[in-house]
This record gives sequence, structure tokens and C-alpha cells, in this order.
Amino acid sequence: MAKFKIVTFGCQMNVADSRWLSLALERKGHQAVEQDELADFVLLNTCSVREKPFQKVYSEIGRYKAAWEKNRLFFVGVGGCVAQQVGEDFWPKFPYVRLVFGTDGCWQVPDQIDPLLTQPELRISLLDFAPVYPEKPRVFPDRSQPSAFITIMQGCDNFCAYCIVPLVRGPQKSRFKSNILAEARAWVERGAKELVLLGQNVNSYGQDKYGDGTSFVELLDEISAIQGLKRLRFTTSHPKDLSLDLIELFAQKEVLSPQLHLPLQSGSSKILAKMGRKYDRKKYLDLIRRLKQARPEMAFSTDVIVGFPGESEADFRQTLDVLTEVEFENVYVFKYNDRPGTAASKLTNKVEEEVKQERLLRLLEVQKFIRQKLYQRQVGKILEVLVEGQTSQVDVWRGRDNWNRVVNFKVNGAQLDKLLTDLVQVKITAAKKNSLWGELCL
Ligand code: SAH
Ligand code: SF4
Ligand code: F3S
Repeated sequence: MAKFKIVTFGCQMNVADSRWLSLALERKGHQAVEQDELADFVLLNTCSVREKPFQKVYSEIGRYKAAWEKNRLFFVGVGGCVAQQVGEDFWPKFPYVRLVFGTDGCWQVPDQIDPLLTQPELRISLLDFAPVYPEKPRVFPDRSQPSAFITIMQGCDNFCAYCIVPLVRGPQKSRFKSNILAEARAWVERGAKELVLLGQNVNSYGQDKYGDGTSFVELLDEISAIQGLKRLRFTTSHPKDLSLDLIELFAQKEVLSPQLHLPLQSGSSKILAKMGRKYDRKKYLDLIRRLKQARPEMAFSTDVIVGFPGESEADFRQTLDVLTEVEFENVYVFKYNDRPGTAASKLTNKVEEEVKQERLLRLLEVQKFIRQKLYQRQVGKILEVLVEGQTSQVDVWRGRDNWNRVVNFKVNGAQLDKLLTDLVQVKITAAKKNSLWGELCL
């Protein structure tokens, strides 16, 4: 038995892998410790999508040097996308990094821990891409969190010009429907009320040669029939593959949450073409219009890159225009940065850092008002909230509404025993910057 800690960076797929790793290690008899406690071994699940999370991995590894020198730590394992990129090059620099694993190697990690603990010279590398989706041995907690993640595919074939994901995550591999359905049922049986299906491009689920031929819409259709499931969500969608059938499904299936993350990246068709996104501004806006028609209460979030090579002021303004037109509730905005091996990193007309920074701030300012306006509209409504737990304030609880907005709500002592992990009605009384506030309705 050893004590372990997992530190997770990056997207929800990494969060899902880390949750699985933690459960699988506990099944082997190891024990998770709090983030500030000493552990016998530490696993870092890393992200390489931008320069910042990439650099964070190096500083995080450095934090464990002292403990290792004092013989308090056996090893650090580095997994995920930075591990796939850097691999065994970590070894000469950090003698205590003795395990590297890519996403396809994650399922083998629990079996490697005992040899690493007992053989101080041993180093293990699990970096090969698997030829099919690597199914992990199924492990579940006795009781699920209210919302469970299910990875339905691995990798990406799109090679957007700026993006490193296809290089570090490998080709797209869809998981078989039967395995996904079995996992989905198991989570709901253990109390999950919401399922979030994960993949780099869920709309192209089933369109690679590795799956069993099921389409994304068929998959959603079958999952939505699971008894006891209250909310079904998925991320990330790619506008080029978002089908009319899927839009129709939003109209038919109440269980599909009326919230969609649809990465725009840029509002300029010229920049979108250079990015290799295979849709233009018109097609994007058309999708939004159809989705709103199918489900009028639909809310959207998006990703935007500012300062892609060659982005002019006029291009950037087109992005601002789309923000104003669509009225996203959330916009995740990133300054373009070069990632090794990508097509965009070889382009010459790079945008200067100050210009990128200025565009980022302008965009955030525009978005702040849009969001405030949308959140303000919720005040006075009674919303159904999936309870996640208590906040640091005893009488304040937190959950999410069907649009994935954070809702904080006050609870008096007498109401407490009712609240565990279920759905409650909350009357919204105020809209703050990043959350809604309300009172529990009885
Ligand atoms: N599969 C998802 C995105 C994964 S990466 C999709 O297709 O949308 C998450 C976000 O990081 C991207 O949507 C993009 O906005 C941003 N991103 C990716 N590479 C980047 C880069 N080189 N510079 C800045 N932002 C980047
Ligand atoms: Fe990256 Fe594009 Fe694939 Fe998304 S679809 S992971 S942005 S290459
Ligand atoms: Fe990052 Fe890898 Fe996810 S690069 S965004 S952790 S797929």
C-alpha cells in the first residue's frame, strides 16, 4: 500500500482519466492523499494544447525534487499529452520521473506501481498509440458524483492548423457503442443524474475505421433512453460535423441539456480557412440559428483564438460581431501560440504579443456585458439545480442548472437533510459575475 496524489491539467478528458486512475489505484490498495499532504508517488496528467499548461508541467515536476532527495518520495509519473510529446526526454533532466504514459497507456498504469515502488532503478514508458480504443478495466465508486464523465472516443483527425492535439492524442478512435452503453448504465445505477460524453470532436463519433459504425445521433438516442438519467450533455462539438439530425434531436429529446459548446475560433471566414476549420462564418451562424429554432431556450458557449497568424483588425472585429450576434454565455478566449509540429507554427505573418493582448482584453470587455445581460435575465426564474455540494459557507450550497450555470443557493437548517445529490428547485435572486444566486424552493 502506498499513498498517492494525482495532479490534473487540461481538458475534461484528462479529468475523466484521472478519476478512473484514482479509483483503479484505490482498488489496488493504494490511498489518495490531499493535495498538500506528502505522497509516496505523484502522477501528473498533463496538457500541451498551449504553451502555459506545457510550462506548468515542468514547474510542477520541480516541486517534488526536495521530497525525492530526502527519500520521502519514490517517483513521479508524467501522463497525458505533454508525456506523449516529451516522453523519455524527461528522464535525463528529472531522475525521479520514472514513469511516462500517454492517454492510450493510462489503463496499464495501476499494474506498474508495485514494480516502480520496489525497484528504484526501474523506468517505465507507456507511450504507444493503441490500434483500437483502449478499454479500461471498469471500476466505479459505490456512489457516483451527480455528474459523470464518459469518454466516447480518443484522438483527432482534423489537424486544425494551430492545434497539437492530433499529434499528442493520435488518430480518432471511436469506442464501441456496447461499451459506452454499459458504462453509462453503470453510472446511472450508482446515482449519476447527468452524463457528459467526451471526445475531441464528438460529432464525428463513429466516422473513423475503429468504431462499430454507430453514429453520434444513434448513440445519443440510445443513451437518452436510460431510466433515471435526467441530463445528457457532450463536448466538444465541431461545427463542420454538427449534423441536421443532431439539431433535430435537440428538439425531440428533453433529456438533452439545452446548452452547447460550439467552438468558433474566429468570426472571419478568411482566418477560419487558414485555420483549416472547414466552415465559414455564414455556416456557423446558420447552425446557431437552426439550433435556436429547434430549441428556443438553447444557450451557447465557445472557444476563440485571438491573434492567429495574419489576423487583421478587421478580422478581429468580425469575431466581435459574431459574439454580439450569437450572445454566448461563456467565451473561452486564448492568445494564439505556436505549438511544435503544427502547420500554423511555420507561418511567417505572426501577430505581435501586444496586439494579441489588446484584442484579448477588448474581447473580454465585450463578453462581460453580454454575459451580464444574459445572467440578469435569469433573476426571478425558478430553475432546476443539480446539487453538487456544500460551499465553504455552511448554509450555502452549490449546483448547476440545466444550462450548466453555477447556482449558489441558501439553505436553512430544517431543509438540510433533503439535500444530497439530487435535483432541487431554486428561485434565482441575483446574478453575479460568474454565478447565479438564489433561495431553495420547497
Ligand atoms: N477539440 C476541441 C478543442 C481542443 S483544444 C475543438 O475542436 O474545438 C481547446 C481550445 O484550445 C481550442 O478550441 C482552441 O481555442 C484552443 N487552442 C488550441 N490550440 C491553440 C493554440 N495553438 N493557441 C491558442 N489556443 C489554442
Ligand atoms: Fe484540435 Fe481541431 Fe482536433 Fe479540436 S478539432 S482537437 S482544435 S485539431
Ligand atoms: Fe490538453 Fe491533451 Fe486535452 S493537449 S486539451 S489535455 S487533449
